[in-house]
Order: sequence, then C-alpha cells, then structure tokens
Amino acid sequence: MKVLVVGSGTMGHGIAEVAAISGFEVKLVDISWDILNRAKERMMDSLRRLYERGAIKDTPEAIMSRVTMSVSYDVARDVDLAIEAVPENMDLKRKVFQELDRVSPQHAILATNTSSIPISDIAEVTNRKDKVIGMHFFNPPPIMKLVEVIPSKYTSEETTNKVVEIARQMNKIPVRLRVEVPGFVSNRIYLRLMQEACREVESGEATIHQVDSTARNKLKLPMGIFELSDYVGLDVALDLWKVIVGRGASDVKCNMFREKVEAKQLGVKTGKGFYEYPGGKYVKPSLPADSPVRESRLLSLAVNEAAWLIHNKIVNAQEIDTVMKYGFNFPQGLLEMADNIGLDRIVEELRDIYSKGYEAYKPNELLDEMVRNGKLGRKVGEGFYKYS
Ligand code: CAA
Repeated sequence: MKVLVVGSGTMGHGIAEVAAISGFEVKLVDISWDILNRAKERMMDSLRRLYERGAIKDTPEAIMSRVTMSVSYDVARDVDLAIEAVPENMDLKRKVFQELDRVSPQHAILATNTSSIPISDIAEVTNRKDKVIGMHFFNPPPIMKLVEVIPSKYTSEETTNKVVEIARQMNKIPVRLRVEVPGFVSNRIYLRLMQEACREVESGEATIHQVDSTARNKLKLPMGIFELSDYVGLDVALDLWKVIVGRGASDVKCNMFREKVEAKQLGVKTGKGFYEYPGGKYVKPSLPADSPVRESRLLSLAVNEAAWLIHNKIVNAQEIDTVMKYGFNFPQGLLEMADNIGLDRIVEELRDIYSKGYEAYKPNELLDEMVRNGKLGRKVGEGFYKYS
C-alpha cells in the first residue's frame, strides 16, 4: 500500500514514521526541503530510540528506505491513502484537499488528521466526499496507540471500514465515532480537564503545581494537565478550546491559556509555557508529592462530558476509556476511575461548582439518573460498568 502524508511537522513526520514502520511505502510532502530534511532527522532520531528499546525489528535505515520526500503533489498520482497533517487552518486544508483530489487516483482515500475542523467542511471541496474521513493520531504518533476514526456525514461505510482496517495494520487501536462531534471524543474530554484545571487555579482553589501533582501522583496520569498542554502546545490547546466552545459546547470562563498564548509562551516548543523547557526540549517538571486537589474534583467535568457523549450515542463507556488509555496513556479509563471514586462524589463536585455559577458543570441527565438509581460505581457493584 502506498501512503502519502502531507505536512511533516510534529504530527506529520510521526504519522509517516508509523506508516513506514508498518511496511507501507510512504511519501512525505511539505513546502520546503529545509522542513523535509528536519523531518527526516526527527524520524531517524525517533526510530533509533524505538530500535534501541527493541520496539521495532527493522533497522531505522531499512524503515527510512521506504520513505521518499517531495515538495510536489505530483507524487500523489499513485497513492492509495493520503493523510493530511498541515496546520489547523481551514483555507489551507481545503487547498490541500483540492490538490489531493485533483492528483490522486479515483480509488484513493483522503484522510485528515485535524483535531478540530469539521470533516464534512473539508470533504465538500472534493469530488469524492464519500472517501474523505478523519484519522486522528496522538502525539507522539509512534508511541500513542489510538487512532480516532471520524466519518463525516458524507463518508461511506466502505471507506470507514477500510480506514479502521488500515489503522489496525499500522498497529494502532482504532475507535470509530458514530457521528462527528466537534473535538471528537478525545479533545472534548481533554478540554474539560483543561477547563477544570484552569478554573481551580484562576479561582484560587489550587496552584498549577498542585493540580498537576494530583494528576500525576494520585491519578497516575503520565503528565499533569498543564504539563500536557505545554507538551501539545498552548496555541493548539487554545484552538481546540475555541473551536469546541464556538460550535456549541458550554464554556468555562478562564483566561490563563489565552494569556499564555498572547505572551507567545506556547509550551515546550517555545521553551516556556506553564513550566520552563530550556532549549525547547521537553523535561519533566518537578512537582510536590502531596496536593489538596481532590481526584473527584479534577475529573468531574471530564466525566460529565463523557456522560454527554454516551447519552448522545456518539460512543459507549468502553470506547471512551479506550480513547483515554491509548490516546493519553491513562493507566485506567476515565470511567473506570470515576466508578472507583464513586459517581455520587463526582456529582457532588459538579453540583458544588455549578452552584458557584459555572453552567458547564450542570450534571448531565445520564449521570444524574445513574446516581438517582443507585448506580454509584464499584462500591455498589454497578456504575458505568458492572462488577461481580
Ligand atoms: N519516538 C520514539 N520514542 C519516544 C518518543 C518518540 N517520538 N517520545 C518519547 N519516546 C520514548 C523515550 O525515548 C523514552 O524511552 P526510554 O523509556 O527507552 O528511555 C520513553 O518514550 C519515555 O519518554 P520520556 O522518558 O521522555 O518521558 P515520559 O516517561 O514522560 O514519556 C510520553 C513520554 C510517552 C510522551 C508520556 O509522558 C505520555 O504518554 N504522555 C501523555 C501524552 C499524551 O497524552 N498525548 C496525547 C496528546 S493530545 C493529542 O495529541 C491530540 C490532539 O489533537 C491535541
């Protein structure tokens, strides 16, 4: 199979690497050779790390021999799948899809790695709307196992099934959304974690370090919430926030992320965000061992969002947990955690914050109903899951 990746930045070069590791012939396109050469170095560096760890069998050189690079779309003429990973700008993405639609063969599937732009809007500029789909990878692509597969309202069942299969061939775990929603599953939940983290700090309930200490030391997440946002890029995080809220989700008034972006402190890539990263290299921030921030409070808004996703039949509880375990390396699923904490405690936190005037914390009807019916989680044998 021949795969074209358009855009060789953080996500694009990682996706190309994953495709090459799985044995596909890969073509990587970007606008300049400087950018492509930098991508090649980053791929080699990542492949060497994976090879040293025994995570891949082929040598980095053998894998890179399957990758060719180009500054022209002409290489799209014989591909089976194109994955676009250019910056999150609608006009730019539409131009890329017009080019891909013009050059690539009729059977080729055109996928976008967008995390926030509606897939249907992108599909509309092509003459193959049924073959356009969202294929959302996670940073860093060679490490994170999840791929969200997002059919637009035009995508055919055949295209969706093929993409699910291709994701499996790439050694990834696909989660397929039934209906496209802004931010998909992953970023809707991630946004809610960011919003609650932000609210706690801005309202004076806790410090950045305390929030992240609870995330890392109590919940055992690989990164704190602010730390992860620095890693993802605060501009990217703020974009997600704006897009998801701009398309109908309730907002949480909090300015810290916007202020950081305005000050051009974008996280790891600029050397400073909520923490410092000398030389623009990720280093683990050191955090206090103890924190007064309760796990139930930090997760409450994310669990409420998960309930919304289930209630609206976008995905089920298990799929949400797969997203969090394989897209964010959570040690347990979000809803497994919620069941362990107790859904009554989650709802108490939501009610408390809601009573302070934060509309987004109004308990979702599904969650409310579960608590009313005594489905309080593991302690009673049933919550989002059943326990025997
Ligand atoms: N390629 C190859 N290996 C890599 C790598 C890469 N790109 N990045 C990290 N690694 C390796 C490191 O070399 C290291 O290997 P060893 O154990 O052999 O030394 C290992 O992974 C662990 O890395 P670190 O020691 O640097 O740090 P860590 O233990 O914190 O792990 C992490 C790093 C895997 C990124 C981990 O912190 C993690 O899982 N964090 C959560 C990341 C996450 O949530 N990503 C999703 C973001 S949201 C998104 O992407 C979607 C969107 O639309 C915004």
